[in-house]
Amino acid sequence: MAKLNILEFPDPRLRTVAKPIEKVDSTIVKYAEDMLETMYDAPGIGLAATQVNIHLRLIVLDVSDQKNDPIFLVNPVITRAEGEIESSEGCLSIPGYSEPISRYETIEYEAIDLNGNQKKDVANGLLAICIQHEMDHLQGKLMVDRISSTKRQLIRKRLLKKQNQRA
Ligand code: NI
Repeated sequence: MAKLNILEFPDPRLRTVAKPIEKVDSTIVKYAEDMLETMYDAPGIGLAATQVNIHLRLIVLDVSDQKNDPIFLVNPVITRAEGEIESSEGCLSIPGYSEPISRYETIEYEAIDLNGNQKKDVANGLLAICIQHEMDHLQGKLMVDRISSTKRQLIRKRLLKKQNQRA
């Protein structure tokens, strides 16, 4: 496995809309494994392929305490959503910031797993939030798009400054 570089806001590549995966082959499995390693290392609880500059509909998640229950979703689709929950969200592409974001509390979703099997499941609370957050990434959308533009501009300015100092 290999650790991948995580793109940081306001990198324009984070705005790319990911393409559906036609077939879960060894390349996709390798991407998924590398993404999982990158996510655990960061550390984070979710990562979308978009964030590592792979523009395919693939996300990895693990909201377990022990970090031993990874979930891989290929071409995820939300088929039903209800309720509302607000929580403080962070994002590996927006390091150092967390913001209150409102999401659906419960979702039903369909996706393909790494064996190529279609699956259908229900998620609540943190997992539901995380799936919605990562699916936003696949649409080129970031959590800062869900906060005020004033705050977004401030975060943008500060992160750019940090990135320029590092370069
Ligand atoms: Ni994120």
